[in-house]
Amino acid sequence: MSQANQYKGFAGWLEKRLPIISPADHFFNHYPTPRNLNYFWNFGAIAGLLMGLMILTGLILAMQYTPSTLHAFDSVERIMRDVNYGWLLRYLHMNGASFFFIAVYIHIFRGVYYGSYKGEREVLWILGIVILVLMMAIAFMGYSLVWGNMSFWGVTVITNLFSAIPVVGDTLVTWLWGGFSVDNPTLNRFFVLHFALPFVLLAVVGLHVLALHQVGSNNPLGIDMKGPQDTMSFHPYFTMEKLFFIGLFFTIYFLVVFFAPNMLGEAINYEPANPLSTPEHIVPEWYFLPFYAILRSIPDKLGGVIAMGGAIVALGLLPWLDRSPIRSARFRPVFQIMVFVFVIACIILGFVGAQVPADAFQIYGVQVFGSLSVLRTGQIFTAIYFGFFVLLPFVPLFERPRKMPRSIAEAIDGHA
Ligand code: HEM
Repeated sequence: MSQANQYKGFAGWLEKRLPIISPADHFFNHYPTPRNLNYFWNFGAIAGLLMGLMILTGLILAMQYTPSTLHAFDSVERIMRDVNYGWLLRYLHMNGASFFFIAVYIHIFRGVYYGSYKGEREVLWILGIVILVLMMAIAFMGYSLVWGNMSFWGVTVITNLFSAIPVVGDTLVTWLWGGFSVDNPTLNRFFVLHFALPFVLLAVVGLHVLALHQVGSNNPLGIDMKGPQDTMSFHPYFTMEKLFFIGLFFTIYFLVVFFAPNMLGEAINYEPANPLSTPEHIVPEWYFLPFYAILRSIPDKLGGVIAMGGAIVALGLLPWLDRSPIRSARFRPVFQIMVFVFVIACIILGFVGAQVPADAFQIYGVQVFGSLSVLRTGQIFTAIYFGFFVLLPFVPLFERPRKMPRSIAEAIDGHA
């Protein structure tokens, strides 16, 4: 039985036959949106848009790409030179991955800073972590498809990590490769998975947004909405605000695509894969660097793999590790400092991951920690990264929270 249909004209006609108008109406006009959301609340929408763009450009690229070790590299070059607007499609897709990670990393930071994983948002958060892992797998396999020399050696190094698993390690790596080295079967399966997994990602993002709408949005104050005085209609207020911010973000993205498309890439990947020539310095894409630094900080292969996996597992455990009843870092002086230190540690780990372990650590040519080596810097900041999670459960024992407003309306209007 269909419910009472309140829509007129075509919307009413369609709703009667296919109930898609009411969810959209709920989303844009009736979803209680906190009045005080700031620009950080735009990154979910930006990530969603980028995901759509990645799928679209990826589909068109796949129509011209050849997943074979003999032709992959040349087919990418053909896309760049001979296919109409192929260069644009490729640069949008290639840099889109970077900007997707930028958006999602900021989205995660927002979640941590404002305690958005609390208050029945555990499933929402875990789905976010599943999304992150999927994104990493998709990006890793996508990079291999170019079949440049960095692609080839990146795949070789990272897939080899599985050999550290006791007993089954070597068998597992052979199974992953589909042979005894990274070769045609490896490239083929990576192409299939790189094509298929984004649709799984799409489904998980759908669940993520469903979970959000089930519990409602958090806000910069981290206090629950108490009634209509605390909320605003999503449309037109937030649609306009989002359009502005999305425009800004995409302007930066397009500036990179058109004027510095290889800024975030590696020159070696413009050389075809060569199993006989190992690049002097194998580095993953920038968005993997902090995790790569954690991996290399532990002087044992299995230990490194466990630490790298643990870095993501720890993020997933946040809703249970953080025991404070207060969500937003604005009112938590100790937690606030901890989050900033954590973010700085992640950024420094990013620099560490890009440098040779035995060298002195540098940021843009400056030895910020004297002659401290890259390896030692990585170990110190890996300890800080995990220290954040270890310390977290104990913070409420000694933290004295700042005074909080009673409601969102009180914080904005000055009275309840
Ligand atoms: C494809 C990637 C993702 C997309 C498209 C996406 C989409 C969204 C959207 C549209 C929202 C609502 C708007 C907003 O709060 O910005 C949201 C909220 C949220 N997301 Fe994501 N998300 C993604 C990844 C993640 C990840 C990796 C995490 C964390 C591990 C995460 C955690 C959250 C949380 C906690 C909220 C609730 C925000 C609040 O109420 O304060 N998301 N997401």
